[in-house]
Amino acid sequence: MTEKENQTEKKTGGHELHFSSLYTPEQARRYFHKHQESLGRRLSDWQEKRMARKALELAGSPRSILDLPCGAGRFWPLLAEQEGRWLLAADYSAGMLEVARQFQPAELLSRFGLLQNSAFRIALADESVDNVFCMRLFHHIGNREDRLRILREFHRVTRQSVCLSLWIDSYWQGWRRRRLERQRALGKKPYQRGYQDRFVLSSETVEAEFQMAGFTVAGKVDMLPGWSIWRTYVLRKEE
Ligand SMILES: C[S@@+](CC[C@H](N)C(=O)[O-])C[C@H]1O[C@@H](n2cnc3c(N)ncnc32)[C@H](O)[C@@H]1O
Repeated sequence: MTEKENQTEKKTGGHELHFSSLYTPEQARRYFHKHQESLGRRLSDWQEKRMARKALELAGSPRSILDLPCGAGRFWPLLAEQEGRWLLAADYSAGMLEVARQFQPAELLSRFGLLQNSAFRIALADESVDNVFCMRLFHHIGNREDRLRILREFHRVTRQSVCLSLWIDSYWQGWRRRRLERQRALGKKPYQRGYQDRFVLSSETVEAEFQMAGFTVAGKVDMLPGWSIWRTYVLRKEE
C-alpha cells in the first residue's frame, strides 16, 4: 500500500466514496457560493434551513451537536443560534474546511471545533455528542452497506439523536427523479457526469435501515410536502 492509500485508508476505514474526492479547494469555493447564486437557490436554501430548524426542535434542541458533513459551514449560523450549545464540525474534504475557515465570520468560527474526518470512521469517543446533524450526505450514497456503516458510526458517536436529510421518492420531485434514473439505466437518457452520484430512495428502504442500525424514527420533516424530494429524519437512539 502506498503512503497516500494508507492515509486514505486511515481517514475512511477503507470506504472512500467516489464523490468524496470531488470537493477540491476550487469546488469547495464554488459550493460555498452556490446556495446564494440565484433567487431560486436562495429560496431553496431558506426552505432547507427551515426544515433543519424544525428537525432540531423535534430532536429536543440538543445541547451538543456534531455537524457532519459540515461542508463550508452553511448551517453554522442556525446551529449556533442556541447559546451555550457545544459544537463540532467535520468533513472529509480539507478544501471544504479551509473555505469555512476563510469565509465564515471569526466569531461564528470560534464556536466550532473542526475535524477533518470521514463519516465512516469518526475520530470521537462513543457518545461524544447529543446529536449528529447530517445534511446532504445520504443522497450521495447508493450502496446499502455504506449507508449502514455510516449509520452505525452515528449510533456509536451520538448519545441521543441524529438529524439526517436525504432524497425520498414519495412526492413529485422524487417521483420524477426515479423516472429519470430508470431512463438512464435503460440508456434512454445520458448521465450528467457520465456516472450516477446521487440517489433517490424509498421511505420503506431507509426506515428499515435506520432500524437495523439501532434507531427509531422520532420525526420526519419534508421540505415542501407533496412536492420536494428533500426530507429530514429525526432518529432516536435505541437503548
Ligand atoms: C453536498 S455537500 C453538503 C455539505 C453541508 N452539509 C451542506 O449542506 O452545505 C457534501 C459534503 O460531504 C462531504 N463528504 C463526502 N464524503 C464524505 C465522507 N465519507 N465523510 C464525511 N464527509 C464527506 C464532502 O466533502 C462535502 O463537503
